[in-house]
Amino acid sequence: MKILLTGGTGFIGSHTAVALLERGFEVILLDNFSNSSPDAADRVREITGRDLLCIKTDLLDADGVGLAFSQNPGIDAVMHFAGFKAVGESVSEPLAYYHNNIAGTLNLIEIMNKNGVKKLIFSSSATVYRADNPVPYFEDYPLGATNPYGWSKVMIEQILRDVCAANPEWSMALLRYFNPIGAHESGMIGEAPNGIPNNLMPYITKVAAGELPVIHIFGDDYDTPDGTGVRDYIHVMDLAEGHILAMNYIRERKGAWSFNLGTGKGYSVKELIAAFEKVCGKELPKQTDARRAGDLPAAYANTALAKKELGFAARYGIEKMCEDSWRWQITGACRK
Ligand SMILES: NC(=O)c1ccc[n+]([C@@H]2O[C@H](COP(=O)([O-])OP(=O)(O)OC[C@H]3O[C@@H](n4cnc5c(N)ncnc54)[C@H](O)[C@@H]3O)[C@@H](O)[C@H]2O)c1
Repeated sequence: MKILLTGGTGFIGSHTAVALLERGFEVILLDNFSNSSPDAADRVREITGRDLLCIKTDLLDADGVGLAFSQNPGIDAVMHFAGFKAVGESVSEPLAYYHNNIAGTLNLIEIMNKNGVKKLIFSSSATVYRADNPVPYFEDYPLGATNPYGWSKVMIEQILRDVCAANPEWSMALLRYFNPIGAHESGMIGEAPNGIPNNLMPYITKVAAGELPVIHIFGDDYDTPDGTGVRDYIHVMDLAEGHILAMNYIRERKGAWSFNLGTGKGYSVKELIAAFEKVCGKELPKQTDARRAGDLPAAYANTALAKKELGFAARYGIEKMCEDSWRWQITGACRK
């Protein structure tokens, strides 16, 4: 099978490419490198010992994306990772987020339609669950968001469900990721955010490496066991596995299917930092700051549906997630 990965040189795309190549799939990466580099494709080749095609194109460039399909006939399915993902930036630059994420997806779907490719795995997010839902989150909970990034995911999910409702040939999996962390255990690929990281794990690794002075804990007075925010961290290689299972699932079915991809277990900010300190063997500087607007006390998945329908169960625990994130930081590969 030939699979095209939009945003394929990014964090989750590159790890999924490794998992696909190791299973014998043919892989094409498409990316504009706005938040990644073609080096990731080389590293995926090196890790797997297999070749892949890496195309530089922007999803907003319909001609470029059209060429990627017409010059590579026989694409069976698309995994759609490409998009902007920084929540805070989406608040200050809503139009850029809506334009890139939504218009990019519309172009992609139209071009897939023209080329007769009608299987899509979409990178959705736990941010699509309305803030007043109780935890754990079930897939049939009401949707809503608190920032433009989250709304772009809610809107794209709706668009994709509408496409499936109108055209019974389509099959799609809408995968709601919780908090992907970790890295490939080779230390050759991982999360490489531009500038100051928005997410906790890359922030912790940079403090541990001495590149940032202190970990900020935003609020320690939430109604959680230790007062800090609780999230469902999932190893990125487990997430990659979830994509392969989801692809096998939609190969045999039509319509749009939503699944949570998490471990179902929540860890607090303090617990994640403690687990990381154990792995890196030192205590890290940290300070408690005020709560951040829009942060929830706790968000974790109910994983029963993904387990029952996809056979998905996360293999890796928090220690392995910390070990692999740390290896990625200290190999120096993350700075190349
Ligand atoms: N990492 C997370 O915590 C997380 C959580 C939930 C959902 N997601 C979603 O998963 C997807 C992948 O996330 P990631 O962490 O790998 O992010 P990433 O930024 O590492 O990867 C996204 C890739 O898309 C590319 N891209 C962006 N806009 C593009 C465009 N218009 N045309 C072509 N390429 C474009 C970027 O260059 C980047 O390589 C995103 O859609 C993100 O919203 C991520």
